[in-house]
Amino acid sequence: MSSLAVLGCMWGDEAKAKIVDYLGDRADYVVRFQGGSNAGHTIHHAGQKYVFHSVPSGILYPASKCVIASGVVIDPFALVDEIEALAGLGIDFTDRFYIDSRAGLVLPLHQELDNRSEKLLGDSKIGTTKRGIGPAYADIASRVAIRFGDLAYPDWLKERVVALYLHHHQNVVKSELEELLDRLSKAYDKLKSFVCATDELLRAAYMEDQYILFEGAQGTLLDLSYGTYPYVTSSNTISGGICTGAGIPPRMIDKCLGVYKAYSTRVGEGPFPTELLNEIGDKIRIRGNEFGSTTGRPRRVGYFDAVAAAYTANLNGLDAIAVTLLDVLSGVEDLKICTGYWIGDRRLESFPAHPLDLAQVKPEYLDMPGWEAEISDCRSLGKLPKAAREYLEVIQDLVQRPIELVSVGKDRNQTINLLAKK
Ligand code: IMP
Repeated sequence: MSSLAVLGCMWGDEAKAKIVDYLGDRADYVVRFQGGSNAGHTIHHAGQKYVFHSVPSGILYPASKCVIASGVVIDPFALVDEIEALAGLGIDFTDRFYIDSRAGLVLPLHQELDNRSEKLLGDSKIGTTKRGIGPAYADIASRVAIRFGDLAYPDWLKERVVALYLHHHQNVVKSELEELLDRLSKAYDKLKSFVCATDELLRAAYMEDQYILFEGAQGTLLDLSYGTYPYVTSSNTISGGICTGAGIPPRMIDKCLGVYKAYSTRVGEGPFPTELLNEIGDKIRIRGNEFGSTTGRPRRVGYFDAVAAAYTANLNGLDAIAVTLLDVLSGVEDLKICTGYWIGDRRLESFPAHPLDLAQVKPEYLDMPGWEAEISDCRSLGKLPKAAREYLEVIQDLVQRPIELVSVGKDRNQTINLLAKK
């Protein structure tokens, strides 16, 4: 096997970066294939906290090559800042970083449009990260986007930028246009050595038996097509998105590992059947430090939802799962897992596609015994309290996928690897 996809399987923030980092030592390539700087991937290692927005989480391993593939939208200014911040921390990756020339750009205009659209929507807003992600992807679909490769052709770039503003019924003043082009040119000078056709690079690497790790951003329930539309992000976050986002055929994805939190969280608006609007939710939020790493917003918190989890496992064709933040549930009384959805006297057979249906489902719960002990030092399943083991078994049975990894703390080594035990 030479490729693995690590995918967030709920509404994002499942601690995928921790899992990518844990598995990253064996990866020759770590690849971002969708999303943009809306993602906030946090890694704690050797007493240092790193937050990545566009740079793949494999960057901490000096031998890993990191790829931003064509399905990602790139804010060139934010990317330069991120690279410079990493260089400031002594992480040098100038000879192992690749950006696809076909990736779309996120420009200040997109951030303005994102902000404006959220304002206009008022109470119906999506609750975006306001990073301009939706408008940038919309422009790609409308064929008016500026792509990374355009930065190499100044005259063409100027024409495309003017056309982009016209498309949005905006006149760009000459001085503003010159300033934007100048900033883009300076950013490009710092990034141009990374630009290449990353699809070719990855296909060739796969043929040479190099190990490729595809790193999902956001989560399956935020997928543009199969998530809780319209409260979703604007890219395809599911395993199918890897093919279009990285330019590789389906057969090049050898294994899909889905990442689930031991409970649920969501930022932004939209239905959330197991949401806890009470002190249990508050306790989990505080214990789990559930505040967005990109926006700082408090995350909404709820019980583990096995109906949604089974849906996303099937959508992604998961081979196995990782359960993260199990340690946060120590000392939480009244633990429950959602096992079914009801609308009136009808038990639903599947996850509803319509937001109005999802908003009115009543969760059916299985009461679970809680546990008091702190578990961050446990390194094997046998060391966990019996109730924590039972909790994992129920998840495994309901999602119908084997659990391979359990995360019990922020640090790389605070991980129980069930494969290592076998
Ligand atoms: P956008 O991606 O900024 O357009 O936001 C659309 C929805 O996706 C909002 O509900 C955001 O809160 C959510 N979202 C975007 N990126 C992330 C992420 O990395 N983690 C969790 N939620 C996200």
